[in-house]
Amino acid sequence: MDGQIAGFDLNKVGADFIENPYPTLHALRREAPVHENPDGSVFLTRFADVQKVYQSRDMLSDKTEAFGEKFGKCPLGHHHTTSLVFNDPPYHTTVRRLISGAFTPRKLAEFEPLIDQIVDRLLDRVGAMGRFDMIEDFAKVLPTEIISFMLGIPDDLRPKLRGYSLAILGALDPEVPPERMAEGNAAVEEFAAILDDLITHRRANPEGAAQGEVLEALIFGEHDGRRLTQDELIQNCIFLLNAGHETTTSLVGNAVGTLLDNPDQHRRLIDDPGLITSAIEEFLRVESPLQIGNRLAGEDIELLDRVIPKGTYIHTSIAAANRDPAQFPNPDRVDLGRSPNRQIAFITGIHVCLGATLARIEGRIAIGKLVGRFPELRADGPRTRLPLARFRGFTALPVAIT
Ligand code: HEM
Repeated sequence: MDGQIAGFDLNKVGADFIENPYPTLHALRREAPVHENPDGSVFLTRFADVQKVYQSRDMLSDKTEAFGEKFGKCPLGHHHTTSLVFNDPPYHTTVRRLISGAFTPRKLAEFEPLIDQIVDRLLDRVGAMGRFDMIEDFAKVLPTEIISFMLGIPDDLRPKLRGYSLAILGALDPEVPPERMAEGNAAVEEFAAILDDLITHRRANPEGAAQGEVLEALIFGEHDGRRLTQDELIQNCIFLLNAGHETTTSLVGNAVGTLLDNPDQHRRLIDDPGLITSAIEEFLRVESPLQIGNRLAGEDIELLDRVIPKGTYIHTSIAAANRDPAQFPNPDRVDLGRSPNRQIAFITGIHVCLGATLARIEGRIAIGKLVGRFPELRADGPRTRLPLARFRGFTALPVAIT
């Protein structure tokens, strides 16, 4: 890999990179840690640089200009430029404050019994199946149920959510073929129509909310005397639903993939279930579900020995930062007891993942119970990867437990 990295173009990565990006990321970190892509954007692979960008208030998330060029005027462009994650203060602050009330540790603790219950039910079902798909039959069900519960999405709509989510988030990849763009636009439109009805109904019946506390907070909450408009509500609910389940599905799927590839660590977790909390941190580090982030330099920024000028697009490799040997000794080695482990799968700074605590709880309960109940878990056929560079996970992961 050494010496071949000068021509690397993040906008044109191939299937090999998607299958296993780590050798390329290590080579970039060694040879060109502040790598310039042919389009003038830079790609960062050192932990220190990625962290510096996330912690600077001058590095902006607003994507109006970039997405204007990428999407033009279409539902996808409108959705992504309205969600909190691609905005800066003050709009970002307003939406974040409204959502964060529903994600306090106390509120989340209330979800633990529900998560326990859903996981037990799923494990009973896969236990009876004997052979099953870890993604379809287990990993994707739990986060969809939880986030749908939080937003009050009716049962019959829940199975559609992952399709919408993949279509909408998939359009964020550096290169998007026209058919994928069309799928993404259709998904935003369908999803928005469903939420429009749901929000209108909830507005008219505020007292009828047995579920969906987050939706209540968003509809009726105010920050600095401002409420969200119906459109802002719809777009941020779409984002929350997507953010809340695709990445968590990957956390669980990637954790299982990692255990199957590292039988010594699998055995270690079976023998010492108390390792589960640090194991989740290690799964997040070695196979980060969200691999690449972006910021726009709102001011010049010094990275390594270079000044990156204001106006430059910066791509942050979360995956490479989490395997930087300067931060994590022996970074490619999976060590479920790794300590310290200051992985940044949820990033740092003002956009730090709002669902990090929830995702950790879901991961801990799902993987902890799965490993405890089915120690004989093994691979049962070839896996299929999500065909995306930005998100790392599987679309199929066949396993057997008998
Ligand atoms: C393992 C699972 C998850 C991972 C790896 C993950 C990762 C991330 C990352 C890296 C960001 C920052 C994006 C950026 O600014 O560039 C983010 C933001 C966000 N995440 Fe998560 N996430 C996960 C689960 C969740 C869950 C379960 C929820 C909600 C139920 C959630 C809600 C959010 C929200 C609302 C933001 C936007 C925060 C803001 O812009 O201020 N995430 N997540």
